[in-house]
Amino acid sequence: MSWDIENINKQIQEDLNNISDVASLESFRIKYLGRKGLISQILSNLGNVSSEERPKLGKLANELKQRVLVLIDEKKIQLAQDQDAEGAQVLDFSLPGIFQEIGHEHPVTQVIRQSCEIFIKLGFKIIEGPEIETEFNNFTALNIPLEHPSRDGFDTFYLEQPNCPVDKRLLLRSHTSPVQIRVMKKHIPPLAVLVPGKVYRPDAVDASHSFVFHQIEGFFVDRQVRFSDLKGVLVHFAKELFGKDIQMRFRPHFFPFTEPSAEVDISCIICKQQKQKTKNRRCSVCGGKSWLEILGAGMIHPHVFEAVGYPKGKYAGFAFGMGVERIAMLKFGINDIRLFFENDLRFLRQF
Ligand code: PHE
Repeated sequence: MSWDIENINKQIQEDLNNISDVASLESFRIKYLGRKGLISQILSNLGNVSSEERPKLGKLANELKQRVLVLIDEKKIQLAQDQDAEGAQVLDFSLPGIFQEIGHEHPVTQVIRQSCEIFIKLGFKIIEGPEIETEFNNFTALNIPLEHPSRDGFDTFYLEQPNCPVDKRLLLRSHTSPVQIRVMKKHIPPLAVLVPGKVYRPDAVDASHSFVFHQIEGFFVDRQVRFSDLKGVLVHFAKELFGKDIQMRFRPHFFPFTEPSAEVDISCIICKQQKQKTKNRRCSVCGGKSWLEILGAGMIHPHVFEAVGYPKGKYAGFAFGMGVERIAMLKFGINDIRLFFENDLRFLRQF
């Protein structure tokens, strides 16, 4: 029997082009490589071939076998790819989806964003300032005298700058109020600005203290701004953030950069000022006092306007500053400030 290898080669190519699925690929394999397949037949019939022809034909048949093996492997891959592409078009809705874990806002960020939204509606602009400040902006321009205890190295993080003159020294800002100075130095009133940001104080860390925390500063400066404007804005803010039933109280206080100054409390959002009937069960949030301090505020001191170069007596304004973590703790009933900074997902997922 003689074999037309060239013809077989052609036949293989033709058959290969007609393969459209795994079953026809298997028939192809059997046709050429199966026990009774064409190539197997050639190889097992080599004994009947003349001794001159035998090595040549043996070599050709083996090459053919290798080629068919390679072609089968390639076809297998191609069929699998075709199927994947098809699968992408035919959606199987019964398959479980691939779960994409999307994060959500940190509770501190939530309070900042909600506060910004409330003030933006009132016409305030959001402005941020640097966390590294000059001593002038953080203290001097805010009418905080050199001998004030907050300027002490124990109460403020100073950057190491040997022999640097006072006021030129750099520090980690201890409050967001220096942004008042930055904005007023650059712009003339009317100004309505809200400043969220991080501040730093070398406090020992415990359930209510952290060396880094967030504040939101707000200030409004124009020709005729009154304390009642401050009250109106803050009452509106508290009702938006905590709910319409909230009461607000202003207690006289002292800040060097505002005069008059006040500490501002809201009615306890937990016990709602319902004096507990049972004497020995006090509200765990307000401690039975019915009020919660949420911010400091006041009318901007004339010395501050002077420090930024505003003409004497021309402008009036109010300013306020609040601790974001404290507000988040009250709003969400969290009793330890450290939880905000530990990045424990078991905590964060609750908000
Ligand atoms: N800067 C003050 C603080 O950190 C808060 C404050 C801001 C008070 C603005 C009055 C006016 O305690």
